[in-house]
Amino acid sequence: MASFTASARVRALPQNFWGAMDAEVARLRAEPGAPMIDVSKGNPDLPTPEHIVRAMQCAVADPANHRYPSYAGRPAVREAIAHRYRRDHGIEIDPATEVAVFHGSHEALMAAVLGLADPGDRVIVPDPGYPIYVSAIDLAGARVHPVPLSEPDYQPDFAALDGIDRAAVVLLNYPHNPTGALAADDTFPRALDASERLGAAFVHDFAYASLGFEAPPRSALSADPQKERTVEIQTLSKTYSMAGWRFGFAAGNASIIAAMTRYQSHAFSTIFGAMQDAAAAALSGDQSAARELVDVYRRRRDLVVAGLREIGWDVIEPEGTFFVWARVPGGGDAVRFADRLRTEARVAVAPGDGFGPRGRSHVRLGLVHDDAVLAEMIERLAALTLPGRPPR
Ligand SMILES: Cc1ncc(COP(=O)(O)O)c(C=O)c1O
Repeated sequence: MASFTASARVRALPQNFWGAMDAEVARLRAEPGAPMIDVSKGNPDLPTPEHIVRAMQCAVADPANHRYPSYAGRPAVREAIAHRYRRDHGIEIDPATEVAVFHGSHEALMAAVLGLADPGDRVIVPDPGYPIYVSAIDLAGARVHPVPLSEPDYQPDFAALDGIDRAAVVLLNYPHNPTGALAADDTFPRALDASERLGAAFVHDFAYASLGFEAPPRSALSADPQKERTVEIQTLSKTYSMAGWRFGFAAGNASIIAAMTRYQSHAFSTIFGAMQDAAAAALSGDQSAARELVDVYRRRRDLVVAGLREIGWDVIEPEGTFFVWARVPGGGDAVRFADRLRTEARVAVAPGDGFGPRGRSHVRLGLVHDDAVLAEMIERLAALTLPGRPPR
């Protein structure tokens, strides 16, 4: 059998951090011992609300949805996106020119970076940040320029951009994965000023748009209501527990949307019509299930933050997302610490290194299990001997 070498483009992609960890969790699962508790991912455990599942069941049975859909998203889903922006943020979006739909926000992020950045261009990304940003930049042959986010509030230090005068994209993400921080009042205005000076588009990854514990998170478009240079990316994955369904969207500056749509139509083609109908039902229907989901994650956050603090971990209470970002006790290496938790406590956490150099001293725990499993996780962590603390 012939053996092929992957293209230079593919060879340049970073090692898949999560894939290797998944394999390790699967290996440990197959070994005798207590059930593994996997909090390393952001994969929501709760089911999609019933009315959305029913809308999908009906839509799947409709023969009109068995044919190719048009490249442009359906009017109903575009209008539902504009409706949500009006209701949730008081922002007017033109459904014809200021909206694009994708198979999840991962794909929308790819379309934003590949649709806007030429080889050699700089793309500004948060450190720590969601690792797919760097993958997209690598695929585009562009250059990563990190903007550091620091404890305790994890807002961008824009001074890191002082030495450059051009970039294709400034990319931020609030509520922030992995730290759970929300954007401060001046973060989006300052990001816009920086983007304008650099001639860059401002792309806001708003994947956790609904997941703010004290107040609904703010849209970046509220700082740029004329959509001079901003596009915002959202997903149904977290808001409605629809991670497996693969539906996301972008809204904002019409020229950015046009570039993203053009890239999408060539790279990824169209989106299943039934998925678009179900997305329209999710976005335009009753939002109480999405609100109740926030209550569930808030309760889990309180349980895990209090539990970890009680056993001596240093944790900043997240204001949003469904992640808890914790400092490695005793200041050790996150990868080694995560290895230890996996093998000794059978708890899989994400080492912060996967989110960039500034994640190295932290681990991320996803609140994607029920209260009983999370309480069991705390018990197991309490039983470990950690630097400066005997086991409980
Ligand atoms: C910050 C952030 N952006 C984007 C995504 C991609 O989500 P999806 O492709 O399911 O829409 C995720 C998923 O975990 C995320 O955490």
